[in-house]
Amino acid sequence: MASLPLGNDNDLDDTQFYNRVEEISFICDNLELTKKGSTPTILLTGIRGVGKTALMKKLKKDFQNDYLVVYMDLSAMDKFKKNELTRFSFMKLFYESIIKALRHSNIITIDTQILKYFKTRNFKLDKLKSVDKIPIPILKSEEDYAKFTTFVMDLPQQIYDDCKDHIDGVLIFMDEFQMLKQLDEDVNGFLWYIRSVIQSQKHIGYIFSGSMSVKDELIADIAGQKGAFGGRILNYELKTFPFNTTENYLKEKANYLKFTDDGIERFYKCTNGIPYYVNSFARLLPPNEELNEKKIISEFKKALPYLLIHLTNEWYKLNNQEQRIITALVEKPLKRIEIANKLGVTSGAIGASLKSLQNKTLIELDKDGYMIYDSIFKAWLKKEYEEKGNYPY
Ligand SMILES: Nc1ncnc2c1ncn2[C@@H]1O[C@H](COP(=O)(O)OP(=O)(O)OP(=O)(O)O)[C@@H](O)[C@H]1O
Ligand SMILES: [Mg+2]
Repeated sequence: MASLPLGNDNDLDDTQFYNRVEEISFICDNLELTKKGSTPTILLTGIRGVGKTALMKKLKKDFQNDYLVVYMDLSAMDKFKKNELTRFSFMKLFYESIIKALRHSNIITIDTQILKYFKTRNFKLDKLKSVDKIPIPILKSEEDYAKFTTFVMDLPQQIYDDCKDHIDGVLIFMDEFQMLKQLDEDVNGFLWYIRSVIQSQKHIGYIFSGSMSVKDELIADIAGQKGAFGGRILNYELKTFPFNTTENYLKEKANYLKFTDDGIERFYKCTNGIPYYVNSFARLLPPNEELNEKKIISEFKKALPYLLIHLTNEWYKLNNQEQRIITALVEKPLKRIEIANKLGVTSGAIGASLKSLQNKTLIELDKDGYMIYDSIFKAWLKKEYEEKGNYPY
């Protein structure tokens, strides 16, 4: 019955992927400049669950007949982490993602050339091992690392130059870009390094994307006036589905849901038009039953724990101070000193927790102070408190 995609399925086929016509056309126009020799660079932002990953995977499919498209999910950097998360974890993941894209490309095959690339870069081949048949150099000295970094960063250009008769360009989509904040090194310095490489490239296009609050410092570091890419990156925010789009989407894809007028309005208020919540909540509603406002309210209460699994998991991993900061913000946004007062500690004592919660995009900072990022998560905390007399610590 439920033909709607699961809330955690972001690899949607053409029957599942809805609308985004204008967004796609705008981004495509920019990415296509790659063909003419430019290096379009796009920062795709938007709140959690709005559909950034789904959109990039769709673009990947649309482009991969003419371009080599590399999709890289930075949350996988961790698997290359040794003691610290450094730019080399990033480089190894980037390298692996490029090789994977080559493997899956049906327009070019350059497997053997990879070895040639290593040779021209002076990597000794006895220092190569392979994982999944992907040759990986064994890095020992500082010098090896430095060489590998330039090698990987230059690889897209190398590939384009070698294959330009077959491809229009190389497109690189870096998802979960906010993971860079977890690097145990100067992130800004790293961004400037990436920028300096990209600047000299031709026929390569980039999208950086991730769940970042619009007020996120990382966005300023990337795209702000003094940011590494300031002035030469296109900052594009993916918006939630408007009311009409949501209504039409459900009419088209889930016509067994019988909303009354006030029912669909309430549904929209509950989900805020965030596709993740739209799909997840709609999948839990009973088919062929009248869904009026009252029914939606009671179904939403029941559905909350399921809708929020991704956030409640994070919630239970927080330390006590972090949890108490969040609950202090349930009623209204607060300034740092007000939070500290509520917790009975000094303002200095909550600095680390605030940063960590911001990095996890659980709270964000605005001119009114700190606030809970996800309004549905906030609703859940409120409900828990109302029903149980306490927050779920
Ligand atoms: N165009 C679309 N049509 C139908 N469903 C969509 C669309 N875009 C997103 N969705 C739904 O929303 C869910 C969340 O999308 P996605 O994972 O792309 O969001 P995101 O912005 O990447 O979130 P995060 O910031 O958590 O990475 C998808 O799994 C899918 O169910
Ligand atoms: Mg995503």
